Amino acid sequence: MHYTIDGLKLNCETLGPERGEPILLIHGFPLSGAMWRPLGELLRDECRLIIPDLRGFGASEASDDASMARYADDCAALLDAVGERRPVAVAGMSMGGYIAFEFFRRARKRVVSLVLVDTRPGADGEEARRGRFATAEKVLAQGSAVVADAMAEKLFAPGAPADLKKHWRDEMAGANPRGVAAALKAMAHRADSTPDLKRIDVPALIIVGEHDAITPPAESEAMHRAIRGSTLETIPDAGHMAPVEQPRIVADALRRFLPSR
Ligand code: MLT
Repeated sequence: MHYTIDGLKLNCETLGPERGEPILLIHGFPLSGAMWRPLGELLRDECRLIIPDLRGFGASEASDDASMARYADDCAALLDAVGERRPVAVAGMSMGGYIAFEFFRRARKRVVSLVLVDTRPGADGEEARRGRFATAEKVLAQGSAVVADAMAEKLFAPGAPADLKKHWRDEMAGANPRGVAAALKAMAHRADSTPDLKRIDVPALIIVGEHDAITPPAESEAMHRAIRGSTLETIPDAGHMAPVEQPRIVADALRRFLPSR
């Protein structure tokens, strides 16, 4: 369903009973809310899942001025739009995790817990930043296949089915180049969230695929040490796309974690 937020038509799906425990699921780059579908099917009888397409992704309109703050504010506005006033579990995968940190800084009262999936707290170094700007220009000139082809192999655990890899390569290649370029620049400009880890005072679940080659398990282990009382779940036979590769194991980790269950 579309909602007009900050002058843009943004798509946000909701699944599950309205009274179910609310979870905001923020997708990674260059993906869309569709990445949460396998997990959503497993949890929809128990939880209320709020699944936005970030600006410029999926069925949401793009703007050239994306930032972690704008994405986080869009998510907060979408919670209002779907009538969700309760504090929510904020779950973010990779770039979605960067946004979850920003959401926590900007709207602490709306966060009952954090679920940090295949992500990292650190900002880009100078070289990575330059690479993002160069890739953004390429994507605008040549299309999103540039990013899809560079990422497709790195996303999955060794031995992941070829049709799964092809499906997600094609999804990424079909992403809106304006949205992809804007997100690359937004990630390049994102803040370092590492100093905030010790200020996280809500329950935190950290999930990482054992073979994650983009945000490797060592980064999640370091986050786990830095966030007091956090839980770390390492997902077997999964790479960077743990919720897509092993939705059942990820769903069970969430069930164990969600505080009111
Ligand atoms: C993602 O999966 O969201 C991206 O790989 C994150 C990044 O490029 O830093």
